[in-house]
Parts: sequence; C-alpha cells; structure tokens
Amino acid sequence: MKVLVTGGMGYIGSHTCIALHEAGITPVIYDNLSNSSIRVLDQLEKITQQRFDFVEGDINDSAKLAKTMVEHSIEAVFHFAALKAVGESAEQPLRYYQNNVSATTTMLLTMAEVGIKAIIFSSSATVYGDPKYLPIDETHPISSTNPYGWTKVMVEQILEDNCKANQDNLAIALRYFNPVGAHPSGLLGESPNGIPNNLMPFIAQTAVGRREFINIFGNDYDTADGTGVRDYIHIMDLATGHVAAFLAHQKDAGFLAYNLGTGEGYSVLEVINAFEKSSNKQVPYKFAPRRAGDIACNYADASLAKQKLNWTATLDLQAMTDDSWNWQSKYPNGLE
Ligand code: NAD
Ligand code: WQD
Repeated sequence: MKVLVTGGMGYIGSHTCIALHEAGITPVIYDNLSNSSIRVLDQLEKITQQRFDFVEGDINDSAKLAKTMVEHSIEAVFHFAALKAVGESAEQPLRYYQNNVSATTTMLLTMAEVGIKAIIFSSSATVYGDPKYLPIDETHPISSTNPYGWTKVMVEQILEDNCKANQDNLAIALRYFNPVGAHPSGLLGESPNGIPNNLMPFIAQTAVGRREFINIFGNDYDTADGTGVRDYIHIMDLATGHVAAFLAHQKDAGFLAYNLGTGEGYSVLEVINAFEKSSNKQVPYKFAPRRAGDIACNYADASLAKQKLNWTATLDLQAMTDDSWNWQSKYPNGLE
C-alpha cells in the first residue's frame, strides 16, 4: 500500500516514513522543501536501504497533488506539511492561515476529487490552550493562545465537518505533545533553521558548542523545581503512533482525535541534567524571565491511544537525550 506523506522531508514526517516502511507501507514524500533539506532523502536511504519516491511540490498546487496521488495509487494521506513557529505565527498570521488552513482545504478538495478518503493529521497539544486540568485527555476544551495553534484548531474542525458530510471519510487528528530526539542511528534528527525556538535543539546546540548558554524561561513556576514541565515524547515513538493509528482505523470512518504523549512530565532542569549525562558535557544555563504565552505544566493522559490503538510510548527521557546527542554530535550543523 502507498500513502502520501506531505511534509515528509521534515522532522516528524521523515521519521514517520521509516516507521511506515518498517510496517510494510510505502511512503511517497511530497514536500516543497521550505523547511527541510533534500539530503534527508539520502539519510532515509542509508537507514532503510530504500530510495523513497519524492515529489518536490507545494500542497497549494492542486494539479501537481492530484497527479502525484493518481500516478502513485495513493490510498491515504499523512499530512505533516505546515509552518510551525508559534512566535512567527503571531507576526505573520495570514501566511500561517494560508499555508496551514487554506492549503489544507485545497488538499482535501483534491483528495475528494481523486477519491482518497483517509487522512492522518499532525495536530498538537497546543489545541488545549491553557490547561484547565492535568493530565489532559481528549475531551479537554479546545482553544488557542496564538495563530499557529488556531490553525490546528481550525483544521481539526474542517476535518470533523468534512467527515460529517462524507460518512465514508476517515480523519485522525494526532495531538502531539513535545516531540524530541532523533533516529537511533544518528543519521536523522531535528535541525531547525536559525536560532531554535524549542528546548531540546537549543540544549543540543549548546552542548555541541554552537551556543554559549541556554536561557531557562522562568524558575518561579508552581512546579517541583520552578521550571516549566512538559510531556516530551521520543520521535520514534511518535512515528510508530502514526502507524498504529492508521492500522487500527484503516477500515473505519469518522473524525477521531488522539493524544500522543508519554503521560509523564519533565522540567527544563531535568531535561538539561539528562542531556548532560548523555553528552558528558556541561550545558551552561542562565535563568531568564518567563517566555510570553508559556504555561507552567503540560502532560497527556495517553490512555485512549493505549486502549484503542494498542500503542504506548516506550522510550524514556534518557533515550531521548541520548539519541538527540548522537545526532547532534554526528551532524553539529544539521544536514546543510
Ligand atoms: P518541519 O518544519 O520539520 O516539517 C514540515 C515540512 O513541511 C517541511 O519539510 C516543509 O518543507 C514542509 N512544508 C511546509 N509547508 C508546505 C507546503 N505548503 N507544501 C509542501 N510542503 C510544505 O516540522 P515538524 O516538526 O516535522 O512538524 C510536522 C507537523 O507536525 C507540522 O504540521 C507541525 O505543525 C506538527 N507539530 C509539530 C510539533 C513539533 O514540536 N515539532 C508539535 C506538534 C505538532
Ligand atoms: C519547552 C519548555 C519553555 C526554550 C512548543 C509549541 C507547541 C508545540 C511544541 C507545535 C518550556 C522552556 C524552551 C528555551 C526554555 N509545537 N524553554 N528555554 O513551548 O512546550 O511547545 O513546541 O505544535 O505548540 O508551543 O515547547 O520546547 O519551546 O519549550 O527554558 O530556550 O522549555 O519555557 O517550559 P513548548 P518548547
């Protein structure tokens, strides 16, 4: 079976291609390379011994999408393609609504045109806004604090409405908590452009000497050590979660949403300590004011995925920092 992986050259999509391949599902990658490197394809080949089909294209380009879907007899779409920087989304909201919402609608219309009925969508725990209770389950109220988050809320709504109108369609929204780590080979990982927004790549770049120190945003939160707590999930666990969701619901229809997290929260200081152990390097840090829009604590109730998908995360924080360091030390400047 062949599936289209939009954004498949990016961080999460590329790792998911490996998990799909291992499950006997053939990924066809569709990506405009706006936030990824063509060299990902070579790295995927080194890992899987397979050259995946790749189409350089934009999901706004309906004609190219339709041609790709038909030529490859695509049966389902794994939709990762999106812009993802929270701060940037507040500065350029229209670009985010266009790329993440309008383009997704274009793609859904194209899927309908060529008769593809199943989509697995990269949603985010950001759709829960400021948590009203912890751990967060899938019935937690939906909201957002920034345009990026609203794009995820809106696409979920579009998918739900579309499934109501077309009762043989399937849409699974996977709400990721904080994806981190890298493929255990060290051949593939996360390499953000510019200064990293997220914690793990910033720590990794500090450990490898690209940055002098890391700012810890806030040490006065109501958490055990005062720093923010998040549910970090290993990228390979996240990848297998996609396969599990697809296989469990392949013959179903309707709109479904699942949390993909470990259910455990770790503080910024705990992540830095684990990284120091993995790298055998000191990670210098300074306490800085809280980052605007940040919440104190966030972690998943991951029991629905366990129950319905027979999936749980298996890799712990030390594996996340070990693999992150393995990748960062092999490729200090990413693939470029
Ligand atoms: P990424 O930027 O590494 O990957 C996204 C890929 O999509 C890139 O390769 C980019 O070139 C491509 N792309 C973007 N717009 C496109 C378009 N219009 N047409 C074709 N290709 C396009 O990001 P990622 O971290 O792998 O995230 C993948 C998905 O998961 C995104 O939808 C993101 O919002 C979501 N998500 C990410 C996180 C996270 O922390 N990384 C958390 C929750 C949800
Ligand atoms: C984690 C913790 C920071 C950087 C974001 C998006 C979310 C989702 C995942 C896509 C927090 C602290 C961070 C630094 C720090 N993305 N931190 N110094 O904010 O939980 O989630 O990425 O859907 O939508 O908002 O992740 O990695 O940025 O931060 O102290 O240099 O690390 O304050 O407590 P976050 P993060």
